[in-house]
Amino acid sequence: MELFKTYKLWPIEPVKGRGCRVWDKQGNEYLDFYGGHAVISVGHCHPDYLAALTEQAGKLGFYSNAVENSLQTTLAAKLGATCGYPDYNLFLCNSGAEANENAMKLASFATGRSKVLACTKAFHGRTSGAVAVTDNPKIQSPFNKTGNVEFIPLNDVAALESKLSTKEFAAFIVEGIQGVAGIWEPGAEFLKAARAACDATGTLLIMDEVQSGYGRTGRFYAHQHYGIKADIVSMAKGMGNGFPIGAIIINPAIEATYGMLGTTFGGNHLACAAAIAVLDIINKENLVDNAAKQGEYLMKQLSGNPAVKQLRGRGLMAGIEVKEGFEGLRDRLLFEKHVFTGGAGANVIRLLPPLCISKEEIDLFIERFNELTA
Ligand SMILES: Cc1ncc(COP(=O)(O)O)c(C=O)c1O
Repeated sequence: MELFKTYKLWPIEPVKGRGCRVWDKQGNEYLDFYGGHAVISVGHCHPDYLAALTEQAGKLGFYSNAVENSLQTTLAAKLGATCGYPDYNLFLCNSGAEANENAMKLASFATGRSKVLACTKAFHGRTSGAVAVTDNPKIQSPFNKTGNVEFIPLNDVAALESKLSTKEFAAFIVEGIQGVAGIWEPGAEFLKAARAACDATGTLLIMDEVQSGYGRTGRFYAHQHYGIKADIVSMAKGMGNGFPIGAIIINPAIEATYGMLGTTFGGNHLACAAAIAVLDIINKENLVDNAAKQGEYLMKQLSGNPAVKQLRGRGLMAGIEVKEGFEGLRDRLLFEKHVFTGGAGANVIRLLPPLCISKEEIDLFIERFNELTA
């Protein structure tokens, strides 16, 4: 059997990781400014994380959601205390797409409405509902296209207010920062207007923090920079530092009924042990503050570089839009300078390093970036 060729692969196989570095099979060292796509939050193979996973694997790896699991309640309490939503309820699942599926399904249950409003260029995942609110015809099959979804341009307050005024929408879903689209922020004015329009029309506000959450932007969730609260927040990537886990947190005004949401693997013992360890490390090592501080330093060091057309983003979710002629820079960073970065089209490099990145590692990145551009 061969692999179904749905991924375009770089010819590199990382086999070892520590902190913000990985090594390939040949022993070459790479600086990780990609974090395996914003997933590595507390660093590769953090000793506390390894200890927590190993200990739990030796006790009990899995049992079903039909029985009590105090790891889940511990995770809920710790997440509530850390993320600024202590009174919200937690539902655990396995991925970002699944978190968004459950968020939209729950909004539809709660409001009795069937439609969801989303933003152009949005990415919310690849499962049926999540891809239906994703604005990319290339990944949306005819099966996923539905009349239940409408799109407005990000930051278009008038379009948002006009659509929601019909009171047809169960939810408005928007990313904390649009990542796949190339690092585009919703403005404070737009999110405040969204909050007000949702309140006025009985629509639920879903913030997709799958990529921008878990401290990456220098606040636990990106939307907290704008002083608004969501009704449902979805998260995944950084939550397990590589162990698959996703979640939504839910306004306590939304009532649960038995069986309305469910999953076999969501919230299993190993996933919870990983997620608890991640939160403990984030808190112990002040990684949210580190993301804010190092992100600011990174942006300062990049500004004025002759290859840069525009710098976007916050904290350690940074987008470098490069000038014409620099389209191959991401590949050159990887193959010539041994730096992993993310991309968004040919002309945007996405920087999503682990939250534990140091000033010295940023200096090293800048040195290598400058060697190719200055
Ligand atoms: C904002 C956002 N939402 C949802 C997803 C989907 O997450 P997953 O790949 O875990 O299903 C992603 C993945 O890149 C994302 O960036």
